[in-house]
Amino acid sequence: MNFIKSNHYDINFVKENMMGPNSMKTIEELSESLYLERGMRVLDLGCGKGLTSIFLAKEYGVTVFATDLWISATDNYNRFKGIGLEDKIIPIHAEAHNLPFAHEFFDVAVSIDAYHYFGAKEGYLSEHLAPLIKKGGQIAVSIPGIKHEFTNGIPTELLPYCSYDMNFHSCNWWRDLWEKSDLVSVQECKEMRCFKEAWQDWLSYDKDSKEDDIKMLEGKNADYFNLVSIKAIRL
Ligand SMILES: C[S@@+](CC[C@H](N)C(=O)[O-])C[C@H]1O[C@@H](n2cnc3c(N)ncnc32)[C@H](O)[C@@H]1O
Repeated sequence: MNFIKSNHYDINFVKENMMGPNSMKTIEELSESLYLERGMRVLDLGCGKGLTSIFLAKEYGVTVFATDLWISATDNYNRFKGIGLEDKIIPIHAEAHNLPFAHEFFDVAVSIDAYHYFGAKEGYLSEHLAPLIKKGGQIAVSIPGIKHEFTNGIPTELLPYCSYDMNFHSCNWWRDLWEKSDLVSVQECKEMRCFKEAWQDWLSYDKDSKEDDIKMLEGKNADYFNLVSIKAIRL
């Protein structure tokens, strides 16, 4: 894939702030399916250190509410201020089941490499996320996933690295879950093209701390995995 936009960012800044597969590349691909225009309000849920929020604010001129649990609002504010984006990105510290926003406040919600931590249960979308999006607004999520459900149990070669509570699921599984919500209409659910490159960027940096991820995706093991994207419209 040709990452025309994300390749412009300082690679050292990106590496320092990555928390998983390169989210700048993921958001570049995900945003191809979104309608984004200057001034829109975007919720970036589970934004981590805010790489995707930075990308959206810079590339599209949207106002981003960069919301995360593990990373403090002050940490993110200092990062956004450091690159002059403090007026375009609002850092929020919040848990995904207790989001401090008005209903129908956002034009768009995105979530990259985070939704599987809190959104894999039926009801999450309808109760917590969809109500915050304006009717006709867009919700787009990218999640590490698997090509097919492990219906006969987790394959032996993956047992040391994978467990069911990691919520790795297939496109069809996520589509079925989202289609249970009557607040959204699922527009697309697919495997992302950036899978290989986004993971490679993550695994090639600070390798010593990533032994398990490297083994999980080594050789033929990589064939089990993908990155799933889902896009829906708020009804
Ligand atoms: C692997 S990191 C990805 C961060 C970022 N989106 C990226 O791709 O670089 C997962 C993020 O999900 C967030 N997260 C996990 N559980 C959450 C919850 N219950 N509420 C809000 N955020 C949550 C964490 O704070 C963490 O920053």
